[in-house]
Amino acid sequence: MKKIAILTSGGDSPGMNAAIRSAAKIAMSKGIKVYGIQRGYLGMLNDEIFPMDDRFVSGIIDRGGTRLLTARCLEFKDPKFRAIAAHNLKKREIEGIVVIGGDGSYRGADALSKEHGIKVVGIPGTIDNDIKGTDFTLGFDTCLNTILDAISKIRDTATSHERTILIEVMGRHAGDLALQACIAGGGDGVLIPEMDNPIELLALQIKERRKHGKLHDIVLVAEGVGKVQDIEEALKERITTEVRSVVLGHVQRGGTPSGFDRMLATRMGAKAIEILENDEGGVMVGLENNKLVTHPISYAWDGERNYSINDDYELALTLAK
Ligand code: ADP
Ligand code: F6P
Repeated sequence: MKKIAILTSGGDSPGMNAAIRSAAKIAMSKGIKVYGIQRGYLGMLNDEIFPMDDRFVSGIIDRGGTRLLTARCLEFKDPKFRAIAAHNLKKREIEGIVVIGGDGSYRGADALSKEHGIKVVGIPGTIDNDIKGTDFTLGFDTCLNTILDAISKIRDTATSHERTILIEVMGRHAGDLALQACIAGGGDGVLIPEMDNPIELLALQIKERRKHGKLHDIVLVAEGVGKVQDIEEALKERITTEVRSVVLGHVQRGGTPSGFDRMLATRMGAKAIEILENDEGGVMVGLENNKLVTHPISYAWDGERNYSINDDYELALTLAK
């Protein structure tokens, strides 16, 4: 393959830049011409495609966000618009693309590949960790650490005022961020969409702990469970301690990527180019059992998850007692 393009799509995540840099530099080192596509599929559609040089990727390994910019583009779900996007690639003789994003972005890539023969490789870039076929997505580790930092700060004030504080974290429909933040942050409760989360049980646990001298409660709430304000109201009806809630919001998406995310991004970027260099595609790159693996791109949504969420949930509940 002589010409490839790189794009980022969906919500940005720390590590996307490191993946862009790696894929671009490795491709250039092999004599492959590299293009950048701005604003994900929106830019592919609007012909925002430019030749990338090594200056473009310099000084970005430690930066959160994405130098290529990202967007959500509803038109891309329509084959008519995908045909325009494919034409913009083909007129430049771009044969393969590296798509850094979540499973929505992979669905777009899959359609482009099937309809227009463009070779696609997906790199999992999202803080949500909600892609099958990989134990970790780029940005999850950095985001988890951002949440842990927030928990420590919130705990200081929770203890001083002897309050129960609910912390809503991102994750879309997945509870990974909330669950792992609860375990690693020494949380006292966690509500995730994968479980039933009876509010009575949480209230009971809080009352029990208070009887044993606990001065505060930190409860992690995954956004997929519902609005934290509603949970706050429901809890207030059941316990007498003061309750507050915090929505961490977009602070979770930014920041310099952790060493883990930079390494993962760099390895995945290199792997993506190895695949395209061999004129292969239609796959996603993942990390399973500490090894880089590939799966058909559709595995991201119809494959098996390795993460044993039940075990971690039990662990979190036992530790919270
Ligand atoms: P993520 O990639 O993080 O899951 P989204 O679900 O918002 O984020 O998807 C990002 C973009 O991928 C969408 O804005 C759209 O352009 C494209 N996309 C998502 N789903 C599809 C689909 N079913 N078919 C084609 N393109 C899609
Ligand atoms: O997919 C990443 C993510 O941050 C989710 O955790 C969250 O639900 C969503 O994106 C927020 O999207 P936006 O920034 O468009 O509000």
